[in-house]
Amino acid sequence: MIGIGLLGYGTVGQGLYKIVSERRDQLSYILSDEMEVLRVLVRDLDKKRDVEIDKDKLTLDFERILDDSNISIIVEVTGDLEKGYNYIRRALEKGKHVVTANKAIVSAYFEELSTLASNKGVYFLYEASVGGGIPLIKPLKDIISFNEVSSIEGILNGTCNFILTKMTEEGLSYQDVLKEAQRLGYAEEDPSSDVEGMDTLRKLRILSTLGFGGVITEDDILCDGIENISDLDIKLLKGKNRVVKLIASTYAFADGYCSIVQPRAVEVGSYFANVNLAFNSIGIRGNYIGDLKLFGSGAGMLPTANAVLTDCIDVVLKNQNLETPLRGKGLKNNNKEIFGRYYIRLDSGTEEAFEDVIIEKLHEEPLCFLTREIRLMDLLDKIASYEEGAYSIIGL
Ligand code: NAP
Ligand code: HSE
Repeated sequence: MIGIGLLGYGTVGQGLYKIVSERRDQLSYILSDEMEVLRVLVRDLDKKRDVEIDKDKLTLDFERILDDSNISIIVEVTGDLEKGYNYIRRALEKGKHVVTANKAIVSAYFEELSTLASNKGVYFLYEASVGGGIPLIKPLKDIISFNEVSSIEGILNGTCNFILTKMTEEGLSYQDVLKEAQRLGYAEEDPSSDVEGMDTLRKLRILSTLGFGGVITEDDILCDGIENISDLDIKLLKGKNRVVKLIASTYAFADGYCSIVQPRAVEVGSYFANVNLAFNSIGIRGNYIGDLKLFGSGAGMLPTANAVLTDCIDVVLKNQNLETPLRGKGLKNNNKEIFGRYYIRLDSGTEEAFEDVIIEKLHEEPLCFLTREIRLMDLLDKIASYEEGAYSIIGL
């Protein structure tokens, strides 16, 4: 029997339990053995759950899972950064395989946990941590084995994309749509990590570190979220035939890379403009593979649980390499070389400081305008030296 110890019984954990229960026979067939979730770690034993489970399986005690010799795979889907990290580290140290959907942990401890797993000869897999249900990490690992990846760009957060789509297409308010995204199980327990861009940044950290074979940490990525975007921004940009999306991009150059998460107003009809609701899409460019686009559900119970289960299956069938996929090359950060044209909204103050960059004014109060091409760092300096009130910067 293939025993699974499940850490967390929320959206993703319940999704995994549901699929494993519903597909027991098919799984037995492809794995030549029965797969069963033997124990589940939760915080509250009495909480009402949507997917029914035998209460005897629930526990508050991680040690019961760690010490259970029938459990060979630990699936970590708690969303808790520090406790989750400790559970994963201890499980790997004990020689258990680990599958996680927790990008916060993968991002914060990527090198350490990958090396630990490799040294212990066990799997550390995290397909669901980026792009939800989209098969992305495993294809990327295959691509980097012989391609040189030159760029990765994508919509990586279902919650933000859901909010922006509903604000644009249905004119709904930011707060109302955020509540709906929470109800649908897309948002993190603390949704500020979604809307402030941290969740996307962590995913970009994972993809760029893998893709470029370097060490690109959270601090190496510029980041802005969608929390300052107003109905007016969306309306004015719609008038310019553009829709706002939160986009993560990373580009490799001969001597380094640049990496940024920023709201961007993309042209209606362009590829990313058509990625809506909680869907995600990722473009990868490599010297042999050319331009690859992957598209699918970026969040939600079953698509995410599906990705977790594919990792569990890969563990059992030994479908992936046990060596760490990380290369750890020293790469130079070139973020200061990011140039672009921008839409700016300034909620107070005058336009004097911006006279040399404005090419078109879209609104007087608050002042909204489009800039000429400018170095992003110079624009941020201008804003920092002048502006005390709220503002929004959207790349074009
Ligand atoms: P969730 O619905 O909030 O569920 C979290 C579960 O973990 C709950 O059952 C909770 O227990 C348990 N838990 C939390 N902290 C714990 C702790 N310290 N010790 C023991 N149990 C703990 O979260 P989720 O949406 O399933 O997300 C789980 C992970 O998957 C997160 O890292 C998230 O980023 C990632 N992810 C989620 C999605 C998605 O669409 N939701 C997609 C991709 C990746 P109680 O129920 O008893 O409170
Ligand atoms: N909160 C995340 C999102 C879950 O909205 O994309 C999937 O990683």
